[in-house]
Amino acid sequence: MQIVRQLAPLRDALAEFRKAGLTIGLVPTMGALHAGHMRLVEVARAQCDAVVASIFVNPTQFGVGEDLDAYPRQEAADAALLDAAGVELLWAPTADQIYPAGYATNVGVTGISEGLCGAARPGHFDGVATVVTKLFNQIRPDAAFFGEKDYQQLAVIRRMARDLDFTHDIVGVPTVRDPDGLALSSRNAYLTKEQRASAVALPDAMRDAARQIADGGRVAAILADAKARIQAAGFHEIDYLELRDGDTLAVLDDFTPQARLFAAARIGTTRLIDNIPVS
Ligand code: PAF
Repeated sequence: MQIVRQLAPLRDALAEFRKAGLTIGLVPTMGALHAGHMRLVEVARAQCDAVVASIFVNPTQFGVGEDLDAYPRQEAADAALLDAAGVELLWAPTADQIYPAGYATNVGVTGISEGLCGAARPGHFDGVATVVTKLFNQIRPDAAFFGEKDYQQLAVIRRMARDLDFTHDIVGVPTVRDPDGLALSSRNAYLTKEQRASAVALPDAMRDAARQIADGGRVAAILADAKARIQAAGFHEIDYLELRDGDTLAVLDDFTPQARLFAAARIGTTRLIDNIPVS
């Protein structure tokens, strides 16, 4: 696997892939790779001839007081995983290859980025949309792969790609979970043993609430019960637990076949998010 940090050699390497007639799949990441990321690589491998993974801890998507400095950085271990998974090229740009001196452009996606995590993390999705636009323009992939774990991020990127005329496929890949149901996340590493044991209350409560909603129960009451259960398990703050449309992310008061449950809650200093279909 080639590891490339500068745009000029990146363009040369991509030109070689294209000359050989290979389709290119992009898996953008911020590193600290886990089985969820490796599933993205696996799906990209199955759909494209050459896989390019990127690792860039993007400062513009972290808010004040968020964990930019503490965000796990383990490039050597990540590179070994990607290499073993058959990735052709790791794009690990230096910061100036993404944000050159004087950088002044922002990509913002209104509407869909405003509720849910957008409410608790102002500016976060602008940072994501901006860096993903840069990565799309730098790599010009045939398809790009994102986890459904960050479902709102996926929806923002789909909207942005439609609005800005990116023509490559945006592929959403189902969330990978630990055997007990907790969604894999780089942030799970911050949990103490006790917090990790309690954290499973989040997907458990969501799964039960989803089933009750699909069975025709009253949404407001079901969500209130689920919140109480999540809090009783040790989550001290629930940013949101909401029923929304899986395409538009519009808030729903009642079940529809497109409905999805979205949650974000804090346990200790760690904020966990999850989402599941209601069907
Ligand atoms: O999901 C992530 O890891 C990041 O938000 C992304 C898409 C790589 C942009 O920095």
